Amino acid sequence: MPGTVIVGAQWGDEGKGKVIDLLAERAEVVIRFQGGNNAGHTIVHQGETWKFHLIPSGILYPGCVCIIGNGVVVDPAVLCSEIDGLRARGVDVSNLKISANAHVIMPYHLMLDTEGEQRLGKNLIGTTRRALAPASADKAARLGIRMQDLLDERILKKKITAALEPKQLSLRPFEKDIDLQAITEQYLTYGHRLEQHIADGQQIVWGALDQDKHVLFEGAQGALLDIDHGTYPFVTSSNPIAGGATTGAGVGPRDIDEVWGVTKAYATRVGSGPFPSELHDDVGEEIRQKGGEFGTTTGRPRRTGWLDVVALRYAARLNSLSALAVTKLDVLSGFDQISVCTAYTSARDQDFKTTTFPYHQSVLHHAVGEYEQLPGWSEDISGVRSWDELPQAARDYLAYVEEAVGVPVVMAGVGPGREQIIRAP
Ligand code: IMP
Repeated sequence: MPGTVIVGAQWGDEGKGKVIDLLAERAEVVIRFQGGNNAGHTIVHQGETWKFHLIPSGILYPGCVCIIGNGVVVDPAVLCSEIDGLRARGVDVSNLKISANAHVIMPYHLMLDTEGEQRLGKNLIGTTRRALAPASADKAARLGIRMQDLLDERILKKKITAALEPKQLSLRPFEKDIDLQAITEQYLTYGHRLEQHIADGQQIVWGALDQDKHVLFEGAQGALLDIDHGTYPFVTSSNPIAGGATTGAGVGPRDIDEVWGVTKAYATRVGSGPFPSELHDDVGEEIRQKGGEFGTTTGRPRRTGWLDVVALRYAARLNSLSALAVTKLDVLSGFDQISVCTAYTSARDQDFKTTTFPYHQSVLHHAVGEYEQLPGWSEDISGVRSWDELPQAARDYLAYVEEAVGVPVVMAGVGPGREQIIRAP
């Protein structure tokens, strides 16, 4: 299947990196199609731990072309340090390509993200403060700076001047930190450093697809953080759903053969916004500690809860998922019973009940999870290497998820290592 999209089926942090790392072994090209360094994933590859924010984890396979697609918003300082970190550990990064059309995070975007959150006060979004919203706003307002602009001083200066003009008021507190000449020079330096990687990303993808080679489209964040279909305004500023792969990589829907959704065996969320199956008790804390649920990018403790199949079914339909990978199943070991959220009732209306994901924000904000209980298992499953070795209750849990979501579960993760991802028979 040449074109496979991998997306998060929850609120991000599902462990997509591990699944991509596994599939990248057989891929010719891996292309990130949205988000920026608000994303972060940790993978354990050949016994070593790697953290990525912008570069697709396929970079660890010599010969795999890794593209930062046009849909990604790039902070060049972060990218340069990620490249340096990989080089220092002996990784060849010559196969890294950055779409010339990818937008760039500028210093004033970082200032505006912080300023915007401070202005919202207690209503803040809880962004990663990596400037995704201000940079994406400039893209839509046609005031963005693209990677190709970093290669031309005259164009870059003109575009920065135009971008700064409507922001005068918001940037007044930062006035002394904004020096047009200094920013231009700093970003030209990034341009020179990254020039060898700047390329026509879509041509590379088309070339591979036309030769029937395997291309992975790597999503960041998750369906419920989608700017159009997620829990707006508590979302990111891009389309993490499979449809985003078309615009963010420059392909058509017919170039996509499979869509894999990744979900944890439970649920987490970072930042503000509705989360109907959230746990505020000791069980939630136990999941947080056992699952190491602290952000890769910001270190923030993640909110935790039981698996929500109402939300998962929504994600499955939005993405037209063809397969589901369930990660962190080992974290559920030791619970006598495991709950699954199968419907929402309302904190405000005792007659209300739904099994479909509510489109209305007020309904969603007052949604309360209703649960089914499944038997747990006590065994440590981190050493399990095949489906048959899983305790019966764990297999039943996966079968339940498959049935409830209506998408085949093809993989399950029982620990951070790549050998700890087991395939369904
Ligand atoms: P932003 O993308 O930094 O603007 O943040 C918007 C919302 O998306 C916040 O709730 C963030 O916590 C959330 N978010 C952004 N990136 C990730 C991610 O990679 N994992 C989980 N949540 C994320």
